[in-house]
Amino acid sequence: MKTHKRTLAPDLDTLMPILVGAWRRMLKLSGPPDELQTREFRTVVEAVKALEARFADGKSLVGTDYLAHPQMLGAYLLYQWVVHYQQGLSLLGELPITPKRVLDVCSGPAPFAMAALRHGAQEVIATDQNLRALHLGAEVCGRYGFPLTVRQWNCLREPLPVEGKFDLIIVGHCLEELFPSEKKGWQDAQQLFIDRLLARLTPEGYLLIVDNSYTEANRRVLQLRDVLVGKGVPVQAPCVWRGECPALKVQNSPCYAQREFEKPNLIKQIQRAASINLSSLKMSYVIFRHPSAGWPDTGDRNMYRVISPPVDAFSGKRFYLCGTDGKKQLSSHLQEHPPEARAFEYLKRGELISFTGALEQQNAIDIVQGTEVHVEAACGKPVPDRLST
Ligand SMILES: C[S@@+](CC[C@H](N)C(=O)[O-])C[C@H]1O[C@@H](n2cnc3c(N)ncnc32)[C@H](O)[C@@H]1O
Repeated sequence: MKTHKRTLAPDLDTLMPILVGAWRRMLKLSGPPDELQTREFRTVVEAVKALEARFADGKSLVGTDYLAHPQMLGAYLLYQWVVHYQQGLSLLGELPITPKRVLDVCSGPAPFAMAALRHGAQEVIATDQNLRALHLGAEVCGRYGFPLTVRQWNCLREPLPVEGKFDLIIVGHCLEELFPSEKKGWQDAQQLFIDRLLARLTPEGYLLIVDNSYTEANRRVLQLRDVLVGKGVPVQAPCVWRGECPALKVQNSPCYAQREFEKPNLIKQIQRAASINLSSLKMSYVIFRHPSAGWPDTGDRNMYRVISPPVDAFSGKRFYLCGTDGKKQLSSHLQEHPPEARAFEYLKRGELISFTGALEQQNAIDIVQGTEVHVEAACGKPVPDRLST
């Protein structure tokens, strides 16, 4: 019942020179394709710092087309693009199908659209208010060998200028900008926007909402998940729990994904110079299914999403899990793990696991002699679904 999908490498050796080349052409700069000169580098770092500060508080983005400044757009392409593209590559790996027709809303320079193309999507349409950003994204995709269709669309003011339905709609890193939380009625406006997007999905389609892992963005995504689940919209990933989100019931208890982050030299240098401490990709996300589709059928055995890194406890390491039967804590009674339970030693936040022969008491699951730990879906892989295999 496991779905086998290829893991895609980000191929940054090919992409980084394409990004630097597109950045140089946009700013009409000459120079080597694979590195920045000292003065150029300093300008990029200052702009990356300004962008990161804006994303951290969310508020200062409101109402401004900050990507209209070429220096900002250029810096976004050389830093945030690389981060968001890798997020997209990992998250789209969790779809059980290859989406044919994709809409990337508020796409900017199109990192998620590029991830969809790399996953084999045939037609990807990127929309944004900022046409220059879209053209930059299309140039990157084109030089890599993919056609990207772009449409300028102010999604708060106009109807979507594209006909038809989509197998995947992506809403990446834009909800706070579109629906600032200090604006009266923002939740209703956001809900209407999401409902309109859901109505544009094919019956087998998916809606991916992704944002950063900061508390406010995380709560927004989880609250949206609760409202949609309450209305009967099924979740493809990460939640296998169908009730109200346990993370929202506790203060300061964000629930976000963490994935490996491949860092080419330029990204390492920018991070060092801008004092950005980000060693892995951290993001809040939910992939919804079409409202008429059911939840994935994971079978009779309980499944659990690992929702924390290993936490040091008195009795050894412990993990938090969110499973088909709710939130649990996982620990082990064993000093040494036999092969059938050895996966415990390597568990990662984001993996989907199940057990046979574990000791279960209320909200605690313990690994004991004879317990088998099964990794049902590694990070970036689809939930096993008996109905789709
Ligand atoms: C942080 S960027 C995210 C870009 C891309 N989705 C990503 O994840 O990298 C937010 C994008 O939302 C776009 N945006 C903000 N308000 C918009 C609106 N009303 N209509 C269309 N696009 C908008 C901005 O132009 C910007 O490209």
